[in-house]
Amino acid sequence: MQNHKEFEEIEIAPRAIDIMNATRSMGYTSESAIADIIDNSISANAKKIWISFPPNAEYLKIIDDGDGMTFEELKNAMRYGHNFNDPREESDLGRFGLGLKTASFSQCEVLTVISKKDGQVNSLRWDPSYIENRGYGWVALSLLPEEIAKYCIDTDFDSLESGTIVIWENLSLMLAGESNYRSAMSLKMDSVRNHLRLVFHRFLSGEDGLSKLTILINNKAIQPRDPFLKTKSYQISDVQKILVPELGGKEVSVAIKRYLLPSISKLSKNELNILCGDSTLTNTQGFYVYRNKRLLVWGTWFRLAPKTNTSKLSRIQIDISSSLDKLWSLDVKKSTAKPPEIIRKNLKALIHYSQDKSKKVFVAKSKLEIHPKITHFWERTISNDDTESIGYQINKAHPSILDFKNTLSNEQNTKFDRLMFQLEQFIPINQMFLDMEDEKSIEFASDDVLERTIRQEIEEMLDKDQSKTTIQLLKKIEPFARYPELINEIMQGRGIK
Ligand SMILES: Nc1ncnc2c1ncn2[C@@H]1O[C@H](COP(=O)(O)OP(=O)(O)OP(=O)(O)O)[C@@H](O)[C@H]1O
Ligand SMILES: [Mg+2]
Repeated sequence: MQNHKEFEEIEIAPRAIDIMNATRSMGYTSESAIADIIDNSISANAKKIWISFPPNAEYLKIIDDGDGMTFEELKNAMRYGHNFNDPREESDLGRFGLGLKTASFSQCEVLTVISKKDGQVNSLRWDPSYIENRGYGWVALSLLPEEIAKYCIDTDFDSLESGTIVIWENLSLMLAGESNYRSAMSLKMDSVRNHLRLVFHRFLSGEDGLSKLTILINNKAIQPRDPFLKTKSYQISDVQKILVPELGGKEVSVAIKRYLLPSISKLSKNELNILCGDSTLTNTQGFYVYRNKRLLVWGTWFRLAPKTNTSKLSRIQIDISSSLDKLWSLDVKKSTAKPPEIIRKNLKALIHYSQDKSKKVFVAKSKLEIHPKITHFWERTISNDDTESIGYQINKAHPSILDFKNTLSNEQNTKFDRLMFQLEQFIPINQMFLDMEDEKSIEFASDDVLERTIRQEIEEMLDKDQSKTTIQLLKKIEPFARYPELINEIMQGRGIK
């Protein structure tokens, strides 16, 4: 430290109102602001959290059944700032001593907190317009008991042994630009619900080591949204641990789990919604970083790899503890964090392997469509010129097509060839491409129907001729070649070896 002994000290304190106003604009969304308040409830061991916003009232209340605060603790909670370096409980989701205030004033004009602990109910309010009129001082207001009672009507607060209510009044910032309060609030809450379902999914599902949390929005419990759909996905490897030296010198481990999602055709609409909400699998692939089990950042490869269509089934869970906050450049909103250099190096290799696994799913499927040893209905060609453009034509030499053509007269044959040529030219390829980009599952006949017709055709062919040559042929031509197990089953049924 420099020696400043001979200098004169001049105190320059900020004006409370300026700090309050400046920290309103930290970039919170309504979703991240409410999540920040819920972080505090979880850190205070809440098991149940009620979010309520009566349709016609311009306020929002978040009530929890956590530990609550004494008056001294409440005063500290309302204070702007906290020593960043102070040790915290391992499970504490806070860091800066700002969230309660900055998240609230990004959305509302008046913040009131009521808290109950050891049988005592206390309350404090920050009202920036009061402070502005007063002209100076960091003065909070303490509420009268009858005022407190008004806020507790229609809530379960009185029956709780301990807990806290955070009240946001005058939601002008949350609803800036909206003319219809009721519909704007209801839309906003849909989006908040989706956000909370994802960010706190491990608490909501009561994962091992966490006690189950219930969050109710207007008395309706929200369900967890597991971005790995663990019941259906494939976990590529066991948990891997990367040891990272903490700034203090101790080593802390970062746990990594890699998942491969099922392909789209195996996902229901609801499952797809759980995985990517209004977005797409391509956009939401990547790392999912959890700090103390709370989802912090997701759907990014941290610029270590591109997001491609074929890598969209890969997602990687990263678990970090709050002791690495500085290394990960955690922000106050808990919505950004960057992996430090030492981790980036390790992650790069993991991404390649994971993306490759995802790509293999698509390659395996496409291989079945253009396998060189199988006679397909469609042929893929590459032009000899330097454009090397790809063409797809119906394979006129396919035995089923040849068989059919043999039954036609010359005139019918010419018409049929013309028809096939035209069908080839008018495949709605661009629309198919757009559908795939939008991750629509392109449905052909159901597997059952297709298998039934193919079974029937194989039986008919074998009725005519079940020689070895016919069976060998069946195994090499589409559509039968795609069903080797079906062929074997039918052969067994007929006693053919
Ligand atoms: N619902 C609550 N129940 C009990 N204590 C709370 C609650 N909300 C806030 N507190 C107390 O108030 C403190 C300040 O909260 P605030 O969100 O401003 O900062 P923080 O959680 O410490 O850090 P961060 O800025 O990273 O969120 C908390 O550390 C906690 O001790
Ligand atoms: Mg906090």
